[in-house]
Amino acid sequence: MNATEHLKQQAAQYAVRHYVEDHMIVGLGTGSTARYALEAIAARRAAGELQHILGVPTSQATARLARKLDIPLTTLEAHPVIDVTIDGADEVAPDLSLIKGGGGALLWEKIVALASHRRVIVVDESKRVDRLGTRIPLPVEVVPFGWRTLWPFLEGLGAIPRLRMRSLEGKELPFTTDSGHYIIDCEFPEGIVDPQPLAETLKAQVGVVEHGLFLNIATEVIVATSQGIEVMRHGEISALHSVR
Ligand code: A5P
Repeated sequence: MNATEHLKQQAAQYAVRHYVEDHMIVGLGTGSTARYALEAIAARRAAGELQHILGVPTSQATARLARKLDIPLTTLEAHPVIDVTIDGADEVAPDLSLIKGGGGALLWEKIVALASHRRVIVVDESKRVDRLGTRIPLPVEVVPFGWRTLWPFLEGLGAIPRLRMRSLEGKELPFTTDSGHYIIDCEFPEGIVDPQPLAETLKAQVGVVEHGLFLNIATEVIVATSQGIEVMRHGEISALHSVR
């Protein structure tokens, strides 16, 4: 395992150790860091703990992984209120605002996060940015019908839009989300100066389903650094503590 993977694993293990208790409904994030959280939950279950938790997956991929790891699942219909969600992020700003959706699961991730009392984000230190939009483009999830008509709107916001594609059997096809939508990755050459009005403008646009700006959503961010774990909360960053 390389150094970055090790940090991702440390952040995820810390979150599962400190925030997940038995009998909880747990939101299960998507991506390579969230994967380590699922593995940490499975390890605690194998040790006889967390026997009564139920997971709510944020993607089909996470649902498959949870089944493989023998983590029992439920749905938002059966359990519309979640105790804690542990998920990754593509960027974390100092005020705990995030960009998510690099893996395309942003819509389900946002629904699950907003249904959760506690939203714990786990990242390695490479995800920290001073300004959102400087590390990865902002993913915007859109209805496939008429997607190209959104170009003038997105360019008018200062973005350089690009339809996300995927390779399938030698063909390049639009990437589709678990809800059957497309993703338009929006590059902002100077980063996103003012995320809140951008988020509101995107949400108000017909054809836009959701965007990857997660503002005022994370309750804490666990950052694994080469010096140890930092826990970021609103208005404070805890001292580094070594991983136990
Ligand atoms: C999935 O759509 C994303 O929001 C992920 O949570 C995010 O991309 C982080 O993924 P990694 O942990 O793989 O970097």
